Amino acid sequence: MLRYFTAGESHGEALTAFISGLPAGLKVDQAFLDRELWRRQQGYGRGGRMKIERDTAHILSGVRHGQTIGSPISILLENRDWKNWQESLPVGEGDRAKHKRVASPRPGHADLAGALKYNFSEARYVLERASARESAARVAIGALAKLFLQELGIEVLSHVITTGAVTLQEEVPWEEIRALHAKEEVLLNCADPEVEQRMKEEVDKVLRTGDSLGGVFEVVAHKVPPGLGTYVQWDERLDALLAAAVMSLQAVKAVEIGSGVAAAYAAGSAVHDEIGYEAKDNFTAFSRTRNNAGGIEGGVSNGQEIRVRGYLKPISTLRRPLQSVDFTTREPVKAAYERSDVCVVPAAGVAAEAMVALTLARLALEKFGGDSMLETKRNFEGYRQQLKDF
Ligand SMILES: Cc1cc2nc3c(=O)[nH]c(=O)nc-3n(C[C@H](O)[C@H](O)[C@H](O)COP(=O)(O)O)c2cc1C
Repeated sequence: MLRYFTAGESHGEALTAFISGLPAGLKVDQAFLDRELWRRQQGYGRGGRMKIERDTAHILSGVRHGQTIGSPISILLENRDWKNWQESLPVGEGDRAKHKRVASPRPGHADLAGALKYNFSEARYVLERASARESAARVAIGALAKLFLQELGIEVLSHVITTGAVTLQEEVPWEEIRALHAKEEVLLNCADPEVEQRMKEEVDKVLRTGDSLGGVFEVVAHKVPPGLGTYVQWDERLDALLAAAVMSLQAVKAVEIGSGVAAAYAAGSAVHDEIGYEAKDNFTAFSRTRNNAGGIEGGVSNGQEIRVRGYLKPISTLRRPLQSVDFTTREPVKAAYERSDVCVVPAAGVAAEAMVALTLARLALEKFGGDSMLETKRNFEGYRQQLKDF
């Protein structure tokens, strides 16, 4: 069974991520892991922190001679800013006078709910863990899941559909998403350069006014075979698992599979994807005229591309803060401000790719099993043949 979790505070010494259950014999490409981490740090509208950090995945265990050995893998991501926080966030008792309080909770962030829950007198420890810095650890293990999926021919990428008030209307084909991914510079990760420029203007507006933006990204999983996930139990459905995985990312407030939202307002004949029998390069000859289902029917992958959208609320740390209350005096004050991103849709898309890849890898391993890549791939090829013979 594939299991994973993360640890670490935003300004602590390091983040760590653990993943257990990957088969032995998977080639681990360090440059791929680091590029995925780099991608999460990109995008127009990021805060100053991205300039001081260049994440690298330091693998501590579970990989030897460049391959997984079946043991749990642990990865360490250093926080380069730690040197500036050692005295204010020490592991030992330290000097409490050097603590950096977050004196007034930010509406929309975890500050107030977290302080109440954990009985903290202010929100420093809350934001240290609630912060999306944590998503870097998920991207590191997600990159391993992607390498595993690549061995089965499956790829997972994302692109941006909406930033603020600007939305790309057309569906973006896989080849264009791939081309976006190959770029060495990331602006807003939108496939249409003209729309991307308008997205940039949206970010420029909030940079001027001290406000922030949300948006929508789409994750696409290419060449997923039919048969991952199942309708037989509620918690084994692929759509449910993907929704939870993407929703678990900081600031994601809605998840859509295929054109699920528009479908709710349309007639059945305009929504459902008619079936033919002529496909040439897919797992079976069954074909579809379109993919409104986003590659999932009945909680099972149907052989089409899987398309999952995540809807992000605007960043809650504002340079022109909203009204709040001082934790100590209970007097009305402006919410706390600390160096912050103003727009993170491309980065959230990369983190969501990791969550989608981890979910698909888990289900692929449940279906195909295998303690070594040789065994997993043999089982996978057997299933491919079964689909061909269907
Ligand atoms: C990649 C990424 C970067 C983020 N950066 C910031 C940030 O710099 N400042 C901020 O206030 N929120 C940021 N957020 C959002 C907060 O982490 C999030 O809103 C907060 O933890 C509360 O959780 P919730 O929005 O899921 O309720 C970011 C989210 C993502 C996905």
